[in-house]
Amino acid sequence: MASSGASSGSVKEDRLWQRHADMAKLGGTPKGGVNRQALSAEDAAARNLLASWAKARGFTIFTDAIGNLFVQRAGSDPKAAPVMSGSHMDSQPTGGRFDGMYGVLAAFEALEALEDAGVKTKRPVMAVAWTNEEGSRFQPGAMGSAVFSGHNKLDEMLAAKDWKGVVLKEALAETLKAAPATVRPGTPGFTVDSYVEAHIEQGPRLENEKKTIGVVTAIQGSRRYIVTVDGEEAHAGTTPRAARKDAFAAATRIASAMYEATTDADDTLRFTIGRVDVAPGSPNTVPGKATFTIDMRHPRNEALDEHEKKLEQIVTSRAAPCPAHIERVTNVAPTDFDPVVIDLVRAKATELKLTNMDMPSGAGHDAMHIARLCPAGMIFVPCERGISHNEAENATPSDLAAGTRVLVEVLEALANR
Ligand code: GLV
Ligand code: MN
Ligand code: MN
Repeated sequence: MASSGASSGSVKEDRLWQRHADMAKLGGTPKGGVNRQALSAEDAAARNLLASWAKARGFTIFTDAIGNLFVQRAGSDPKAAPVMSGSHMDSQPTGGRFDGMYGVLAAFEALEALEDAGVKTKRPVMAVAWTNEEGSRFQPGAMGSAVFSGHNKLDEMLAAKDWKGVVLKEALAETLKAAPATVRPGTPGFTVDSYVEAHIEQGPRLENEKKTIGVVTAIQGSRRYIVTVDGEEAHAGTTPRAARKDAFAAATRIASAMYEATTDADDTLRFTIGRVDVAPGSPNTVPGKATFTIDMRHPRNEALDEHEKKLEQIVTSRAAPCPAHIERVTNVAPTDFDPVVIDLVRAKATELKLTNMDMPSGAGHDAMHIARLCPAGMIFVPCERGISHNEAENATPSDLAAGTRVLVEVLEALANR
């Protein structure tokens, strides 16, 4: 295997940092974060900016039927499957500048560093920006990589609606009109040799333990649900309690019981109700409908199964007098990354004299789907106080560059296998 050197030496910290600053203007918020939700005008602007940089370097650009955006640097063997790296450019509504964007820009910087160093690889090296990783606008999240891997069906995803009823297929068509790229025909997905995703940690461990690189070994399993409670609209001033079918009152009973049932002693289970909608949303009408989302995660599938049963039982038993149901909209099993990639990330970090530690990921990433297709792994870098999904999210230029130096060495090694 090639030893570390030319490609990582060509990673330019200033260029990488400036690219983050340029991207942060697209959907930039007054508090210094970004609101660049999937398939919005801001997402299209980010796609155009990435494509303009790629064109300037002579890389090939194409998209697919779910809007994943690929940038390819050619290899010497035209038949060899590519080594791929990337993440996502969409953000949470009050998102940070680094979640996802770092993985795309680190991958792009890796392509540029290989180019600047004049390093030839046998396999092509690709940077990818997956569509709709966050899943805050359209459900489910990690959609582009899920369709690419076959985990979700293209047609079903194109039919997804956002919270305002906009159909994804139409939002995607608008995005591709605003940010045109050659569309690879057919259902998304092609042979990939291996995949490595760089990402900010989104938690506090690296910072607390004063390590620069997280060698990611696994991602915990995650499931999402929507609970729907049907009530009956009634006059807020005149309707006695016994005559009410208050959908929000039933939803709060269900939610309280769920919080209690998901409080585990060792604080491993993650349970979040992140969105509640109440209709018709009038102060003086008893709510006729309430819906809320659940995001639940655990490293073991059996624990998720067990808690899912509890959630179902609570919906059935606590909703009266309102009919209610729970629908599972996402189910991604825990992911174990490939030992070859894990070892390579650790070895390259160590060769580059970067402090590192093995760790699992609490957050979900596109790598969890691509790991079903080919050997995959991830590289984490610290983020300030572990804050993420927050406009205050921050990371240092030198940590971002360090993670990218590891990334390019790993990609080069994989691309010459
Ligand atoms: C990704 O943003 C996640 O929710 O884990
Ligand atoms: Mn992310
Ligand atoms: Mn995120």
